[in-house]
Amino acid sequence: MFEALTAQPPDKILMLMQAFREDPRETKIDLGVGVYKDANGLTPIMRAVKAAEKQLWETETTKSYTGLAGDPGFSDAMIALVLGDAVARANVAAAATPGGTGAVRQAFDMVKMANPDVRVFVSDPTWPNHLSILKHMQIQMVPYRYFDGETRGVDFDGMMADIAKAGKGDVVLLHGCCHNPTGANLTLPQWREVVALLAKTGATPMIDIAYQGFGDGLEDDAAATRLVASSLPECLIAASCSKNFGIYRERTGLLMAVAQDSSARKLNQDTLNYLNRQNYSFPPDHGARLVTMVLTDQALRADWAAELEEVRNSMLGLRTHLAQELQRLGGSDRFGFIAQHRGMFSRLGATPDQVEKLRADHGIYMVGDSRLNIAGLNAKTVPILAQAIVDCGI
Ligand code: LMR
Repeated sequence: MFEALTAQPPDKILMLMQAFREDPRETKIDLGVGVYKDANGLTPIMRAVKAAEKQLWETETTKSYTGLAGDPGFSDAMIALVLGDAVARANVAAAATPGGTGAVRQAFDMVKMANPDVRVFVSDPTWPNHLSILKHMQIQMVPYRYFDGETRGVDFDGMMADIAKAGKGDVVLLHGCCHNPTGANLTLPQWREVVALLAKTGATPMIDIAYQGFGDGLEDDAAATRLVASSLPECLIAASCSKNFGIYRERTGLLMAVAQDSSARKLNQDTLNYLNRQNYSFPPDHGARLVTMVLTDQALRADWAAELEEVRNSMLGLRTHLAQELQRLGGSDRFGFIAQHRGMFSRLGATPDQVEKLRADHGIYMVGDSRLNIAGLNAKTVPILAQAIVDCGI
């Protein structure tokens, strides 16, 4: 029967990860997949996570099943982290998922159950896996303008004009912070305008928040998500713990469905439980438990937040360094946007040929759309990248 299968396109980001591993050049630089690396090129286990893991090993007495939605303590801790006190806890349904991707997938499943003809509006560009999952699920996808190729900022007028075409029964997918792949983000006043527009259209917002703490800080990065959740009748939020807890391979995420009252919440919760059961029964627990321990222990939490802040500041420093280096070499502020962008990524604005030249001639790997992972740089590689950008005529 399997001869009937057709080959699926490989994931561009994961393909790049593989190509980098296979490149024998010692001078190669990986700016591809969104993984944080420290100044030595390592992706460390965060101190508080390691401490929680040790404590868990000593105290955990069973590996029996949790609930279908995962450990309620994880949901509580994550809802508080993402939503603060923006909405009543009684109105939030939540289920642990395998990573942020699992939350995105479950969210799409839920909206398709609610409306088989749903259209999902996505930013152009967006994380390629959003598009891939939507295509796989045969959900109609409608792009909305987002990135201004000239300014490398947000094309806000274009975005508003396109989102205005969404209606009740449609979903508008938004990046809560640290837009992936561009690094260009809305200001809070612009978010207010988006919220007002969504209220007018009746479309349901879905927020993907995978980088809380990587942009302007844990609270500031959650501000837009909190605004949306507290201002509109319903929304979905897919949160990832991969990056801000550095637990990529543990697959830890949470899908939240915010409703107006607790009876709507019950239906949402039953649906999330049902979806977990259909897709994988119980969500993975190890990462979720570590996150819960870190968030609920004062000392661990303080240490985690401090380390996350170190990571964030080091990325901001690298952004400034790269922008300055490019200004020094090119004599113009053309790349000043790199210092303005936030999160792990910036879209450079290079052509696919230039990106390929960077890889072939300089061993510098970035995604074909010229998305570069700022966290893949360090003080030594910033000048090398800047020189290569100039050499490739970008
Ligand atoms: C990325 O965008 O590089 C990360 O979110 C990793 C992934 O799964 O694509």
